Amino acid sequence: MQNKLRLGVNIDHVATIRNARGGSFPDPIRAARLAARAGADGITAHLREDRRHISDSDITRLTNEVNLPLNFEMAATQEMLDIALRHRPHAACIVPEKREERTTEGGLDAKGNFDKLKPFVERLSVAGIRVSLFIEANLAQLDAAKALGAPVIELHTGAYCEEVGEKRDRELKRIVEAAAYADELGLECHAGHGLTYDTVKPIAEIPTIQELNIGHFLIGEAVFCGLAEAMEKMRSLMDEARMGTK
Ligand code: PXP
Repeated sequence: MQNKLRLGVNIDHVATIRNARGGSFPDPIRAARLAARAGADGITAHLREDRRHISDSDITRLTNEVNLPLNFEMAATQEMLDIALRHRPHAACIVPEKREERTTEGGLDAKGNFDKLKPFVERLSVAGIRVSLFIEANLAQLDAAKALGAPVIELHTGAYCEEVGEKRDRELKRIVEAAAYADELGLECHAGHGLTYDTVKPIAEIPTIQELNIGHFLIGEAVFCGLAEAMEKMRSLMDEARMGTK
């Protein structure tokens, strides 16, 4: 098999269900432990400014109680920087965040916000946190990520997943080109957002992508078949794609 494709499991939406009623269950940390047992390579959690799903104490518990690398998704704000520096997760993925959006719509404008992002990338890196920038599959954004000194980029797969037919093919082509360019630039390339059983394989086939971060669909499927089974099916689709088999 070509280089192994890692699966990062995003457990935000376990917290979404918990928070719909308040209280303490379902517990996203229990989901993270289960994901670890079922073969996840990492856990992703987004501490949003409005704390609509993951809470501060979830981040503390994920850091202390789960034996997997934590990918801490954060907006480029002083508050989130302070939290990241306090917890020192394995990785921090800087994402754009608008309070009114339902999910992370569109990638970070690394080019337009270069001066604002620079100190965030520097301070996180100095603390030993592997910085990733969540960007669209756009070569100018990759150039900006490289110039900012981020070692990792995560390509936004949302538009590819939402489109159909030729438009989806066009989105896929952009991602393929961006992933190849990331490799040329020496950037580690991840991808995620909106991936499902139906959309994962063409992304998993891209040899220079090293990690997929998947959440909403897996947590939704878990209602029907359990998280371990949902992950197992996703994992086998990813592995089949990597092996070049059907
Ligand atoms: N990667 C990033 C940077 C994200 O912001 C999200 C959504 O929080 C994901 C991956 C996972 O997306 P989804 O929940 O749609 O699988």
